[in-house]
This record gives sequence, structure tokens and C-alpha cells, in this order.
Amino acid sequence: MSDKYPDDSGRRRFVKGVVGGATLAGVGATGATAINSATSSSGAGGGSTQAMAIENIAGPAPRGMPQIPIEIDDEGYLKGIWPEVKTIEQNGVKIKVAELEDYKGSGVTYTSEWFQYCGVESYAGIQPEYESDNYFISGSNPGYTWQSEAYSEGDRLHVDDFSDYKDWGNGVGKSGLGKGATGRWRSEDAEDTIPIQVVRSEKIEEAAKDDPWLKASTQDGFMAWLNKCTHFCCVPKYKTDGSAKFNAEDDVYCQCHQSVYDPFSIVQTLFVARPRPQ
Ligand code: FES
Repeated sequence: MSDKYPDDSGRRRFVKGVVGGATLAGVGATGATAINSATSSSGAGGGSTQAMAIENIAGPAPRGMPQIPIEIDDEGYLKGIWPEVKTIEQNGVKIKVAELEDYKGSGVTYTSEWFQYCGVESYAGIQPEYESDNYFISGSNPGYTWQSEAYSEGDRLHVDDFSDYKDWGNGVGKSGLGKGATGRWRSEDAEDTIPIQVVRSEKIEEAAKDDPWLKASTQDGFMAWLNKCTHFCCVPKYKTDGSAKFNAEDDVYCQCHQSVYDPFSIVQTLFVARPRPQ
């Protein structure tokens, strides 16, 4: 385990962490073999799941954080796609699942099971039929100064506020890699808030040109993920203070136990999704 912790040894440089590299080349090919998690579940809407995720590159986290496919509406507001709700039979019982096979022709099965870990499986917003407009909303204590200036609590994230994404920086690491925002999703009137992060980057834009999954799940360089660390469920951040000593200043860093994720490396992860409470 200890060799997974980031340190000053330059471990980061051993990692294939670039969008468009070998990591992504495999995505299209393996996507088609996605396990049909609905039929291999151990409980209601849980079981083996293959999720697309931002890669975990250091620290104790067991895998990456699941991506949320996005869409920009006609007025320029960002929203996360929620899969289609259907009824399936599981162990002789009819249950609802939210699932889209071959998402926009990418070969990937996108299912709400991607988000069923760390207790999120019991959140109202993760229930297949929870009603939401699915927009990404800026919270009361956003992760970046630009966001506190541009938005009030409850505002939707808008593309115009990311127009400087090719130059933006927050004084942590390099500028110009991509602009980040924090927010919530599918959490209207809910007790538990689903934390998300969005990054707009030229790297994503570039990689999406010839990758079927990224083409389907990102738009104009925008990419989003469920921002719950897969280790012990803290909320990490892209370009966060204090991450430089762990070589994570240009990555997503979890300060609880120093897990690091690369938002520009989208990989397939296999895990056992927790069943939703009945
Ligand atoms: S590294 Fe432990 S919760 Fe994130």
C-alpha cells in the first residue's frame, strides 16, 4: 500500500496521465464488453459495474472517481446527463434502474450504478426516478475565487464563465491547463448533496476528437465527475492548496489521505456498486 502514496520521488512522472495517450486508446475497444451490471447484482440496483472514471494515480484510493456525461443546453447552461429509467427483473423481483446502453454510440453502458459507493447509493438524487432538471449548481462555498465572484449560491454553471479556460489559473501549479468549478447535482430539496466537479480544458477538447466515449460524454472541453474520493469519501479538489508537495498541484487532490486523480486521464474502472436501500 505504501508505494501508492505520492511523495517527492517523482512517482508522478511514471504515470501515463495524459488525455489522448495509451490509456484512452483502449477505451473504445473495451467499452463494448461492458458487464451488464443489472443482471449480476447482489442487491437492488447494485453489483459489478464498469464505470468511466478520472484515473487514480497515487494515494490509497482504490480507483478513479466516476465521470458524469455532460450536455450544454441552448442557453449555455451545463447539465449532467441522467440515464433513462427502466424496470428490470433482478432475482425474480422487479426493480427500477437508470441505464443507457451504448451511450451515444460510444459502446459504453452508462448507469447510475457508477455513483453507488460511499453512501451515495442512499442519496435521494441517485434514486433512478428522483426528479431533477440535472443542472450543475454552484454552492454556497465554491472551491475557487472566480466562482464566488461570478455566482451566488444556487446559480447554474454557464459556459460564458469559463471563456478564459485556456489561460486560467488559481496560483496553484501551471496556468492554462483547464478551468475548474465545484458544484452540486440532482440535490434539489434533498437532505444529502451530490458533490461534483467540472473542468474545461483544451486537453479534453483535443482528446474528444478521436475518442468515442469522450466525444459522447464531454462537450466543448467540459468534463465532469462525481467528486467523492473512492477511499473514505472526502471531497477532493482540482488544483488545491498544499498539493504541490505531493506532486498533485495540477491534478485532483484529496487532502484526507493524499489520494491523487488525473482529470485528463479517463479510464475504465471495475467495482462492485452498492445496492440502493429498499
Ligand atoms: S484519500 Fe482518503 S478519503 Fe480521500
